[in-house]
Amino acid sequence: MCGISAIAGHKPVAKLLLKSLQNLEYRGYDSCGMALFDDEEIKLRKNIGNVNEVNAIEHFEEMKGHLGIAHTRWATHGGVTPENSHPHFSSDNNFVIVHNGIFSNFQSIKTDLEAKGYRFRSQTDTEVFANLVQDEYKAEADVETAFCNALNKLEGSYAIAMICVYQPDTVFAVKKDSPLVLGINDGVNFVSSDMNAFISETRDTVLINDYEYVMMTNDSFQVKRLSDRQIQTKQIIHVQWDRETAQKGGFSHYMLKEIFDQPQTARQALHIPSQEIEVIARKFIEKKQSFCVGVGTTYYVAMIGTYLFSKYADLYVPSISADEFPTLIPVNADQHVLFFSQSGETYDTRMAIRAATQAGAATSAVVNVVGSSISQEVDDCIFQGSGPEICVVSTKAALSQIMILWLIALRVGVLRNRLSEAEAEAQRKKLFDFSRLIEKVINEESGFIRDLAKKTSHVRNWLFMGRGIYYPVALESALKMKEVTYLHAEGLPAGFLKHGTLAMVDENMYSLFFLPNRKDVELYHATQMAIQEVKARQGKVIAFCTQDDKEVQQVLDHYFVIPETDPEVTPLVEMVMAQLFSYYSALNLGLNIDKPRNLAKSVTVG
Ligand code: G6P
Repeated sequence: MCGISAIAGHKPVAKLLLKSLQNLEYRGYDSCGMALFDDEEIKLRKNIGNVNEVNAIEHFEEMKGHLGIAHTRWATHGGVTPENSHPHFSSDNNFVIVHNGIFSNFQSIKTDLEAKGYRFRSQTDTEVFANLVQDEYKAEADVETAFCNALNKLEGSYAIAMICVYQPDTVFAVKKDSPLVLGINDGVNFVSSDMNAFISETRDTVLINDYEYVMMTNDSFQVKRLSDRQIQTKQIIHVQWDRETAQKGGFSHYMLKEIFDQPQTARQALHIPSQEIEVIARKFIEKKQSFCVGVGTTYYVAMIGTYLFSKYADLYVPSISADEFPTLIPVNADQHVLFFSQSGETYDTRMAIRAATQAGAATSAVVNVVGSSISQEVDDCIFQGSGPEICVVSTKAALSQIMILWLIALRVGVLRNRLSEAEAEAQRKKLFDFSRLIEKVINEESGFIRDLAKKTSHVRNWLFMGRGIYYPVALESALKMKEVTYLHAEGLPAGFLKHGTLAMVDENMYSLFFLPNRKDVELYHATQMAIQEVKARQGKVIAFCTQDDKEVQQVLDHYFVIPETDPEVTPLVEMVMAQLFSYYSALNLGLNIDKPRNLAKSVTVG
């Protein structure tokens, strides 16, 4: 999730660009750089480190020019090196690019360009775009055409800003599945990943939609549709945010912002190149036994994996909490362990990696922080690219890990001949549909969820229950509730209730049921049985159900309305809604949501 920024001014813009980078740093901070058009050519400075560290070496504010682009990076492709930092030049240095997102088909295009003699100076997917524009410009000497033609060849997610020597007064920018906004001011215009970059200069902003591109000078801007290059009419919106609100994207807490980031970060995860998925999927085939391991939220991510491998690949992959792994599992060289960690620094997970490595097992990981210890300690690592997660409790990072896990499970299913390529592709499509659906759900249901959290703000004891894959979803949701509200929230399998926990149920006990999609007939009825067991003991019941589910609504004390959706993704819709429920419950209690007591974002001790 990097931060991009571009400015076209009637005066030198280096200082403004530097300030915009400082304001965007929360989106990533492993390296940064700036490129400005200065005296007939483009000058570029970049290096590794956060913005102030790099500025101390590169002295960005001394750069000259009225037009420039800048980038602060959260690495996804290629390590944290000066070469992999943005901006990226084309081979001839006439085009320069900054990019946030992933080009999922970059490898094949890179191979074609290399065959044509293009030089690559980095391992990034971004540089491919710079060279592709150069190549297209060779065919037709028009920058706008070259920009659009190059975009039409690339798949994935992107927000891009580009300047070039052939049109030295214009910033070109475009977006698909990654954020991009314009800032309009008198004689200085901005384009950026978010308005936080320019909020101290202007509050007049224009929102850009997917597949729209922008041509911006210091006193004009045009937004066009990529498909037919038609000009789009845009409204200038005046925002009232203060600096701090802007940093949180207008949200009151990072937790809420990160929940709302999820449609974008989930899509980003779904664009992880297939080669990276393949490397890890093959280990599930090559090794006799695989495990999924994480701790805290990532343990529940791992548990969801167990259900996915079982469903799509007909393979039992046990999930184990990292803290228990070294004492529980007699690891050997015929095994493979897939680890999950947002921070990449968690002590318990690192100790589990050490145990696996010492036994000669193959190790792989899905990690959010590039350069983190875990990413270096495993044989193969996928960087999920969700951007910094600032709230202590994990939301967007966990959902992205589930997306990647899903892709791995589907691929293992294909490699084990349990799924056809077409079936796996149909499932992938459902995940993309899901990422669009949650955008709608979180926007439309937030108010209702907030009201329900208010109605239940007196509750001190919760049971969160589900069956099948809804069980780890219930566990993760209960953990979220505990972390931010400090209330007792116990996650358990709905079928297990009658074997003990039911003794706790009376009129003061509230149960939240992760009721499956009605099309999952057996799971649905089995969960309903547990609801009846609670109701029969005067317990209060809340559940997720669809608008039409009148029969179950009658027995519930309250319910969350979920959209009619594909059964495969219903558990994830409920998980996202439960995140919001925890958030609003904590808000009612007036707690320190982003930094809950006694917890730390990264637990590096045993
Ligand atoms: C800490 C955090 C949890 C997190 C766990 C695993 O305990 O408080 O929210 O789930 O670490 O963190 P990781 O960075 O390895 O995913």
